[in-house]
Amino acid sequence: MAAPSTPSPIPIVRDVPALRRAVAGLRASGRRVGFVPTMGALHDGHLSLIDAAGADDHAVVASIFVNPTQFAAGEDLADYPRREAADVSAAAGRGAELIFAPTTEAIYPDGFGTTIHVDGPTAVLEGAARPTHFDGVATVVAKLLIAVGPDRAVFGQKDAQQVAVVRRMMRDLHLDDIALVVAPTVRDDDGLALSSRNAYLSPAERQSALAISRGLRAAEARAQAGETAAAVLESETRSVIDEEPGCELEYVSLVDADEFTPVEEAAGSCILCVAARVGSTRLIDNILI
Ligand code: PAF
Repeated sequence: MAAPSTPSPIPIVRDVPALRRAVAGLRASGRRVGFVPTMGALHDGHLSLIDAAGADDHAVVASIFVNPTQFAAGEDLADYPRREAADVSAAAGRGAELIFAPTTEAIYPDGFGTTIHVDGPTAVLEGAARPTHFDGVATVVAKLLIAVGPDRAVFGQKDAQQVAVVRRMMRDLHLDDIALVVAPTVRDDDGLALSSRNAYLSPAERQSALAISRGLRAAEARAQAGETAAAVLESETRSVIDEEPGCELEYVSLVDADEFTPVEEAAGSCILCVAARVGSTRLIDNILI
């Protein structure tokens, strides 16, 4: 006999009409709404986004949707961790009041034919490595923002290029009446940036993955000592990662934080971005320079 299912601690809605009714209910007492889009497998990084979304008594809506259109063929869509009940409890425990966990059909019904493509910050790094990824992200984030209609939406700095793409999309589509809040990357004590994909790492791979944050910290130390040349900062990170045989660097690049264009000198707001493979897991991380 199947075990009885535990009732959800907060409402879960599965389609946009139910979402709109539930959000109207949250707003009925005059409260504003903060929104955290996620693909589930929530970790402390996501929970910190919920904290930021709920500041000043905003009612927090979190979405859990593993968006198929941001995965290319051969990527980890099928393996992506899915654990809705645990995610809902964790989000509720942190103060979220509503979960939007739509079916794929609710987001992409038969005949769905619209894709949002953002130029500019999609041209390099993750956009070059995963050419269809940001179309999927921009399209689903636009749909989620339109469906939820929040006052603020919170994204993690860990996915810095995604933030730049979403910022551009929100500006271009007149969604910029929604405040875009970027919350700092949350790291384990040993420096590893929290990511749902860390769940794929074996203990040995997890050790190897530490080279990524070590490499970024080495460049950060050089920058704090006054170094501004991108080539030097990148090579500092590269040499630390190259010392770790289990961690294969894909790119390290210093870019302008808004445009994501590579820069030669660190000036203004720049981000040093890394992608690396550890076993079959592809990880990204970055630091602000
Ligand atoms: O960062 C993520 O988890 C996803 O890219 C997002 C923003 C939820 C869109 O699917």
